[in-house]
Amino acid sequence: MQQLNILAIVGSYRNEESYSYKTLKLIEERMNALQLTQFEYVFLQRVGLPFCDGCLSCVREGEKSCPESAKIGSLVKKIEEADGIALAAPVYTFNVTGLMKNFCEYFMFKRNRPSFFGKKAIVVTAASGGGHKVVLDFLQRTAAAWGCDVVGRLGISSTQMKRKIYIEKVAVATQDVAEKFLAGIVKADQQSPDFATLINFRVMQVMSNAMQTTLNYRYWSERGWLDANYYTDVSVNPVTRLAVGFIAWRIRRARKKGKVSPVR
Ligand SMILES: Cc1cc2nc3c(=O)[nH]c(=O)nc-3n(C[C@H](O)[C@H](O)[C@H](O)COP(=O)(O)O)c2cc1C
Repeated sequence: MQQLNILAIVGSYRNEESYSYKTLKLIEERMNALQLTQFEYVFLQRVGLPFCDGCLSCVREGEKSCPESAKIGSLVKKIEEADGIALAAPVYTFNVTGLMKNFCEYFMFKRNRPSFFGKKAIVVTAASGGGHKVVLDFLQRTAAAWGCDVVGRLGISSTQMKRKIYIEKVAVATQDVAEKFLAGIVKADQQSPDFATLINFRVMQVMSNAMQTTLNYRYWSERGWLDANYYTDVSVNPVTRLAVGFIAWRIRRARKKGKVSPVR
């Protein structure tokens, strides 16, 4: 049986001690029991990226101009080569850790010029109490904006991980995520984009159209995305397409007429 290779990116400062990692390990074990699977773990704490300095050269000139392009380029290659990816980070102050957020900032160019279409992803978080949804939503929306299909989500409560009854529930949940991840990879189709993913596409389309001197514009133009309904020809729910089209039209009109208001 062919071995599946998963790239797991861990955004906990506690590396192998972290429940974010331990939860991924459980998912790996469950997948491996179903089909030979190996996770390669990238601990962002060890990758040692400085804070993104916001130069935006990745958007204007390309990701190779990023001061950290060697590290970022190698991570892009690992994602491209993997059968699937996992993003995991704990909840800190009811949000994602700075470590994971900083990594996602370096990957901002991938939101602008997505390419991982059809690549299956799962997202995982750990918190002592609450805030899971904010982090899972952020990780899911980030992976989806890169082009991935997010097929599983799991948030665990680290303070409960010594209780037998909770550990049993986590076993059921990790099994479920493992099965969905495996099924998605084996099926190898591309998911129809949901409402949020389509909105993201339209917003990026409006922005790319407005940045005619940038690499982004060329990238979008070469792929025929500047006036397309979506990045690929995957089927889109017609009602969602109409609703999103209307919102995009309003955004374009507001920008054209100078009617964009400060947000309160
Ligand atoms: C700075 C900081 C902020 C935290 N904020 C939250 C929080 O908002 N909600 C929560 O439930 N737990 C919070 N925690 C607890 C962690 O989410 C918890 O310890 C989790 O297990 C850490 O994940 P890890 O085991 O993957 O490193 C916080 C911990 C730290 C150090």
